[in-house]
Amino acid sequence: MHAGIAVTDSVVWVGTNDRETDLFEGLWPLPRGVCYNSYLVKGDKIALVDTVKRSTFDRYIENVRAQLDGKRIDYLIINHMEPDHSGSVRMLLDLYPELKIVGNQKTAGFLEKFYGIKEMQVVADGDELDLGGRKLRFHLTPMVHWPETMMTYDAKEGILFAGDAFGGFGALEGGIFDDEVDIEYFEGEILRYFSNIVGKYCVPVQNAIKKLAGADIKVICSTHGPIWRKNPGWIVDRYDRWSRHEAEEGVVVVFGSMYGNTERMMEAVAAGLAEEDIKRVRIHNVSRTHVSYLIRDAWRFKALILGSPTYDTRLYPPMDEFIRFLSHKKLTNRTLGLFAPSAGAEAAYRRSPSSPRAVRGRGTWWSRSWRPTARPRRRIWTAANSSGEIS
Ligand code: FEO
Repeated sequence: MHAGIAVTDSVVWVGTNDRETDLFEGLWPLPRGVCYNSYLVKGDKIALVDTVKRSTFDRYIENVRAQLDGKRIDYLIINHMEPDHSGSVRMLLDLYPELKIVGNQKTAGFLEKFYGIKEMQVVADGDELDLGGRKLRFHLTPMVHWPETMMTYDAKEGILFAGDAFGGFGALEGGIFDDEVDIEYFEGEILRYFSNIVGKYCVPVQNAIKKLAGADIKVICSTHGPIWRKNPGWIVDRYDRWSRHEAEEGVVVVFGSMYGNTERMMEAVAAGLAEEDIKRVRIHNVSRTHVSYLIRDAWRFKALILGSPTYDTRLYPPMDEFIRFLSHKKLTNRTLGLFAPSAGAEAAYRRSPSSPRAVRGRGTWWSRSWRPTARPRRRIWTAANSSGEIS
């Protein structure tokens, strides 16, 4: 794609695109790929910030070499040890044995366990590394997204190397900066990344945003997605709102259906939403839409309505999986509605240990009808207005 792209006169993007990996972390689909961003920071000494997934190393090392112009790498700063960023560390060290790895105390544990590497320079929160002509300051931001995660701030040019924070799915498609790409096109994939990968760690994200509030940040360089140089406030605002579980107006309806009865109930619910003049409605068949997208839309919209039959005396398995994921991600502040074609399915919702508390307890509306017709439709939606909340 590139042999490196200048972020500023002395900072260069040397990352890679990955359009081969089907599932990020073996779980999350990547129909538009993903990128692994890495940066070369040039002072009197040269530092590399993070690396890339091992499978893209060939392209990565071409980018790095093209930018080094025969010079050596003095430091490798590891903001995050997940192998999509640390996967090339061993190969890099084989090529540049003199480089010094820089990370925090927790990084050291991962580095030894993953790659058998024991030597590194350990830094603490607020420590600085002098490259000559510029200093890099380290801010520990644990659990955004792993225990060792930290961010690196370059005060000279106001650049924040943010690790996974402020990242998104999607390979870079030509332009790498926010002012060079169609951000609306990226937004869905950025939210899917946030909700799937970082969403469980909303409190640490809030802590990180507060911690960096005083820094003069002109450019945000995440490990994934575009580089934010024109409007870094755009992505900080999104991450702030999403990590406070704020939602947009709209309703997501997720249903499962074996022989069409629950689907007919879903149609009745959807018609009820239209009668209420609710236009932002997203309907997903839980058996056909990957849970990654269900989580994303649940994160985006205020209300979530689930409809499911029973199966083997329990909750319909794909619905059970979706609820388990949501529960695991700890999504809150959503209005929740449920419908089921039988009392058995209602009982299965309530019994499922993965169900949110509101599903198991009071305050959730229910509607049951084996053969829903136009008449119960109104009742279904009226009931939806008195729904409980996910907790
Ligand atoms: Fe992009 Fe948590 O790794």
